[in-house]
Amino acid sequence: MTQRIAIVTGANGGLGESMCKALVEQGRKVVGTFAPGHDAAAANWQEEMKQQGFDIIMKPVDVSDFNDCKRLLEEVESSEGSVDVLVNNAGITRDAPLKKMQQEQWQAVIDTNLSSMFNMSQPIFEAMCSRGWGRIVNISSLNGEKGQFGQANYSAAKAGIYGFTKAIAQEGAKKGVTVNSVSPGYIDTPMVRQVPENVLNSIVGGIPVGRLGQPEEIARAVSFLTADDAGFITGTNISVNGGQYMA
Ligand SMILES: NC(=O)c1ccc[n+]([C@@H]2O[C@H](COP(=O)([O-])OP(=O)(O)OC[C@H]3O[C@@H](n4cnc5c(N)ncnc54)[C@H](O)[C@@H]3O)[C@@H](O)[C@H]2O)c1
Repeated sequence: MTQRIAIVTGANGGLGESMCKALVEQGRKVVGTFAPGHDAAAANWQEEMKQQGFDIIMKPVDVSDFNDCKRLLEEVESSEGSVDVLVNNAGITRDAPLKKMQQEQWQAVIDTNLSSMFNMSQPIFEAMCSRGWGRIVNISSLNGEKGQFGQANYSAAKAGIYGFTKAIAQEGAKKGVTVNSVSPGYIDTPMVRQVPENVLNSIVGGIPVGRLGQPEEIARAVSFLTADDAGFITGTNISVNGGQYMA
């Protein structure tokens, strides 16, 4: 069987790196994407991965821009081949309580965290269906499940991912294309490490498992859902949050 091709958006971020490694270990040819304008950081990271034994192709794309996503996907299809696995991982936060939230903060988060799902999936979904095999995993969040003070934009975008996931899971079901989401809780990443120590201690105090999650624990859920033998799992969500929120 030819090697399946997997795309991970936001590949060199706190969680993306572990996802890329897990997919390489699963035998996929991995194409990672990075936000345009960060070429040097992406090249350094790619080299670092190579030294660790992980060969990852890196390409720029703005996931909030439909035409740029279409361009990237066409480029990957012509240089590497058909995309079989898509992990929609790139995301941002622009936190503010609603009374202070600017329209730009709302729009940037909706475009990057929710419209990106459509932008990356729509151009390749039909081709996956006609080939009879595909895996899409959308990265949501604990805060999309429960809402979070100061994150109306982020919580709305991440909650929207569940509707998108379940709708297209129904469209892909008879065609061998599964679509699921993974909702990380608080994970030990640079983003979370920036939180002041006292706030972080109180967050950890609210996690029944008693610690932050590790990026590898999110990657574990992603590679579970993208496995060849995961074809009966579709339209669902895996919460990986140490028991912090039990839906
Ligand atoms: N870290 C956590 O604890 C946590 C918890 C819940 C959910 N998540 C979600 O997991 C995903 C990854 O989070 P992370 O902690 O690795 O974040 P991160 O900031 O380390 O990485 C995000 C990546 O997305 C890329 N990106 C941002 N905007 C982009 C754009 N417009 N186009 C293309 N790429 C863009 C960034 O360059 C970066 O590589 C996000 O969707 C985030 O919301 C993270």
